[in-house]
Amino acid sequence: MAYKYKVVFFGIINIEMSESMQINNLIKKRGSIRNFNDQVISDVHIKLILEAGMKAPSACNMRPYHFYVIQNKEILNQLGDFHPYTKMLKQANVAIVVCMVTNLNNNLAKGYQVQDCSATTQNILLQASDLNIGTCWCGVFPREELVDKLKAILNIQEDYIQPMNIIALGYTDSWVESKGFYEESKVTFIK
Ligand SMILES: Cc1cc2nc3c(=O)[nH]c(=O)nc-3n(C[C@H](O)[C@H](O)[C@H](O)COP(=O)(O)O)c2cc1C
Repeated sequence: MAYKYKVVFFGIINIEMSESMQINNLIKKRGSIRNFNDQVISDVHIKLILEAGMKAPSACNMRPYHFYVIQNKEILNQLGDFHPYTKMLKQANVAIVVCMVTNLNNNLAKGYQVQDCSATTQNILLQASDLNIGTCWCGVFPREELVDKLKAILNIQEDYIQPMNIIALGYTDSWVESKGFYEESKVTFIK
């Protein structure tokens, strides 16, 4: 006699995630972190963070970015040295270099790469903050000398790959929140 078994697995996804925060609390929580401890960021979390970046809006959905994920201590040290304001990268556990892809074959999307990559960057910062991973956005583009030095460090040969920023990531013992605040004078309401 033949029996048919239908086996249903109720999988428990064992990803160490923080409780999802209200978005306004998360926005407040994200501040620039410049002191990191030695705790290692897991590959699962790195992937979640990159995935958040790739869910950002982009002009014509061209997704004109490429990410270099730096986990090599020697290169992290070089990244901390080549730029006047990136010393925190020497302590960071990971750096994500957000690069713009400039050779788009879509005339409508051309020129929007800075905006696309900025949206991506902000998603990365927020996702990391939700995971209690500190971040610091370090600007590179449009400073040509910094772009050139960074391309040399990472051995980026393609002229259509342009580093825009470096995001330092790591756990910290001294979390700081966003310094931002609401300022009425920066707003014009047109009703
Ligand atoms: C385009 C851009 C470039 C930045 N570059 C650096 C940098 O090179 N080094 C650094 O320590 N912080 C850098 N920051 C972080 C700012 O200093 C920081 O966001 C600002 O002071 C507000 O503080 P908060 O992020 O803690 O709210 C940069 C931020 C942006 C958006």
